[in-house]
Amino acid sequence: MVLQNQLDRGVAMKILVTGGAGFIGSNFIRYMMEAYPDIEIVNMDILTYAGNLENLAGIDENPSYAFFRGDISSSEDVGKIFSSHSFDAVVNFAAESHVDRSLHFGPQVFIKTNILGTQLLLDAARESGVARFVQISTDEVYGSLGPEGSFSETTPLAPNNPYAATKAGADFMVRAAAHSHGVDAVVTRCSNNFGPYQFPEKLIPLMIANAMEDKELPVYGDGMHVRDWIHVRDHCKAVDAVLRSGRPGDVYNIGSMYDVPNLEVVRTILKHLNKPESLIRFVKDRPGHDRRYAMDATKIRDELGWTPDNTFDDAIQKTIDWYLGNRSWLERVRSGKYASYYESMYMGR
Ligand code: NAD
Ligand code: DAU
Repeated sequence: MVLQNQLDRGVAMKILVTGGAGFIGSNFIRYMMEAYPDIEIVNMDILTYAGNLENLAGIDENPSYAFFRGDISSSEDVGKIFSSHSFDAVVNFAAESHVDRSLHFGPQVFIKTNILGTQLLLDAARESGVARFVQISTDEVYGSLGPEGSFSETTPLAPNNPYAATKAGADFMVRAAAHSHGVDAVVTRCSNNFGPYQFPEKLIPLMIANAMEDKELPVYGDGMHVRDWIHVRDHCKAVDAVLRSGRPGDVYNIGSMYDVPNLEVVRTILKHLNKPESLIRFVKDRPGHDRRYAMDATKIRDELGWTPDNTFDDAIQKTIDWYLGNRSWLERVRSGKYASYYESMYMGR
């Protein structure tokens, strides 16, 4: 595999990472720049409410890193970036990523970024002969599980919320580009991530942030919805493995196999922070809330030799420590341009 050889031999290669100012994208850029000193990374990000260049503090001084503020759903912006660089690979993290926003504010921007944006990148990658395209998808495309079983790569797609539907749409566009046009594209489907720089609208950072301030912790419905929780660094390591040696046209599930109800996650956070369970407030459920996700990640383990390095207990402690040590990041993210978002999100709950 060309990329594997290039990276393993330390041959310089240039990667376009989209959405690199967001949570997982910024962690991925850090991971790759540490792992491969010869890599060049261009980060294309439009900087929505979730994009924050502070997430790349320190990296932005590296001469092998460049930032381009641009929209993946604009053919002009995509044209500009592909005409100014010759990329060996594209890793597409850019997305509208939050389920509640897709329900509350409507799916238009999700359709535009997640589906149209992915298609424009695929077209540009094909026209410029990019050797590998990695699409960062999600376990949410599979829908919801009953009490038993887990999602495998052959589970039929059955997305249940607008966000998940747009991610499934993008997966199909990737499949079509690989099948019809021979684009060397691979799709990863990961479970729920947590770790440093996660925007505090998602369960774990929101609960940590609220508990730190002795605010109520809003748990949707009965709190018995199950998610598979993975540390973001383990996700980044998996994406690296797929980028280097995933089979063209294939899908790889990524998950820790640590699947527990939300209430247990929230109680664990309170325990680590030494805060009382009386902070928990059961609120109106998310509409159409998927009951259970669980991932079968056997394929990536067996074929690519990937395994997660972090246990949930260690990873949650590290994550809480990170938020405790980065209060000013949290304060800036929770105020300013994001404040009105919080007010609107709590409407009706
Ligand atoms: P995030 O919301 O933290 O970051 C998304 C980034 O994309 C932001 O920096 C934002 O500015 C950028 N962006 C949005 N629209 C854009 C556009 N039109 N053009 C360019 N940039 C744009 O999201 P995240 O949690 O880091 O998720 C990253 C990817 O991983 C997404 O594709 C998401 O679907 C997928 N994913 C996330 C999780 C998770 O648990 N967070 C799990 C599995 C898969
Ligand atoms: O499964 C992967 C997906 O995980 C990614 O594709 C998405 O981008 C990411 O946002 C995430 O989606 P979820 O909806 O699972 O994550 P969220 O953190 O929003 O919610 C996790 C669970 O916690 C879910 O069952 C809803 C619940 N929840 C969430 C919030 C924000 C609460 O009970 N209270 C809350 O305040």
